[in-house]
Amino acid sequence: MPTLKLTVNGRPVSREVPGQLLLVQLLREELSLTGTHVGCDTTQCGACTVHLNGRPIKSCTTLAMSCEGGEVTTIEGIADGANLHPMQEAFRANHGLQCGYCTPGFVMASIKIVERLGPDFTDEEIREELEGNICRCTGYHNIVKSVRAGARAMAAHGGSAPVRREGEERVVDSTRSMLEQISELDPESNEAHDAASGKAK
Ligand code: FES
Ligand code: FES
Repeated sequence: MPTLKLTVNGRPVSREVPGQLLLVQLLREELSLTGTHVGCDTTQCGACTVHLNGRPIKSCTTLAMSCEGGEVTTIEGIADGANLHPMQEAFRANHGLQCGYCTPGFVMASIKIVERLGPDFTDEEIREELEGNICRCTGYHNIVKSVRAGARAMAAHGGSAPVRREGEERVVDSTRSMLEQISELDPESNEAHDAASGKAK
């Protein structure tokens, strides 16, 4: 099995992994980082959103091997010790969750929205930006409120971009297709291709 080396929440990780292992499986099953959730397994719900090299991605459709050498940040990696990240705190304070299953994905996606667009945006823009994340409980109103509050708090902490950087990817756009990922992997390894094409047993 190939050896995967990457950094997760600032810590180096080295593991022998099968080519078809998904990033979310590596995080949850190998590294016990169970804050990253699986909702749909098909890039629809956003519960599995993490950051890879500073971009939001859906880890349920990202091959672990495609992250070789990369830096992954999960919901467990954004707090500063006992202090929640401003976006986490905003979700807590504004009741942006009910069951909480979707919340890690919303928080991770929202942080990148604010870093990309800055702290000033309309509710409609927040809803549009978060179209790649689904919540079955809240009706979204308090999530929008939380993102707005989190954006202000991030700006106060110097953690949001001052200008809009239009054209960069939203989380809904940023997960590359499985075939793109496979084409960048070792062509000698058929495991990943078999997994994506349905040939793996
Ligand atoms: S589990 Fe739903 S998008 Fe990944
Ligand atoms: S809070 Fe339950 S799915 Fe969003």
